[in-house]
Amino acid sequence: MTDGTIPVILDVDPGVDDAVALAAALGEPSLSIEAITTLAGNVGVEMTTANTLAILDWLGAPEIPVHRGASRPLIRTPHDATYFHGSDGLGESGFAVSTRALAADRGPAAIVRHAMARPGQITLVCLGPLTNLAIALNVVPWLPELLRSVVVMGGAFERGGNVTPFAEFNVFADPEAAAQVFGAPFPDITVVGLDVTERVAIDRPGWERLRDSRGGAAELVYRMARRSFAERGVEVFALHDPLAVAVAARPDLVTTTGGRVDVALGEAERGKTTLRVGGETKVALEVNVTAFGEWFQAALGLDDTVTRAAPV
Ligand code: RIB
Ligand code: CA
Repeated sequence: MTDGTIPVILDVDPGVDDAVALAAALGEPSLSIEAITTLAGNVGVEMTTANTLAILDWLGAPEIPVHRGASRPLIRTPHDATYFHGSDGLGESGFAVSTRALAADRGPAAIVRHAMARPGQITLVCLGPLTNLAIALNVVPWLPELLRSVVVMGGAFERGGNVTPFAEFNVFADPEAAAQVFGAPFPDITVVGLDVTERVAIDRPGWERLRDSRGGAAELVYRMARRSFAERGVEVFALHDPLAVAVAARPDLVTTTGGRVDVALGEAERGKTTLRVGGETKVALEVNVTAFGEWFQAALGLDDTVTRAAPV
């Protein structure tokens, strides 16, 4: 447990940007990380779980309970993202294996237990497929009444997907879970999709400025983005998951539109998310890139800003 005023649970599938998001959450003083739940997504759940523990070690994090979660989507065949995150899920960065022990409860059970213990107080930040939250909803249908807020990194509304022309990875990987989550009556749910996450990125010059960083969050960011810049030759490293964490602490960083989110389940447009009128879900369609860059630099304790507005 860390000091702070907003108790959060982070649901993660590290994943290089999840790793950076964990560093940002640990560095954001207003967030108190009560627990971390893992699941299959970018890579298998054994690896996302081991990666989570290794990242906490690297960052010298306190003993935060880590709960292994869903090992596969509700229905679909697992679809990973090792092409992007590397075979180890952390950009083949070679972090040491952690000796931290896992907490007893599995992910969905931990979400339920914490929500019941602190009704209406916890913010759940989902940075991977929504399988854990869907399972928790299945066994405790009144879970929405027990969570203060939910922030989801997922979806693409006014721009194309990053897995297919329609679908963003977290929704594509488990569209049925996303449909159940977006159909549940959460009193406060914000969806942070590619419309805004692809606008905030580390650029190559910013990454290069981190080259000599030793230890802590700065070296973590450098190593997580290395595969993208050095091997895949991209010019920007999108900060998908860090923006979702930022929104949990600073909802003012994005501008949202309210409605109902539909998820396409047919094969043709599997995982496509559409914002429809008539609902309370807040979908982020604009982001204050400069303010996010300042937040990111402060949360990670970087000497300089490394982010820029990625091309629309
Ligand atoms: O589409 C981006 C999302 O998919 C991020 O959460 C990234 O970690 C991957 O899981
Ligand atoms: Ca993720």
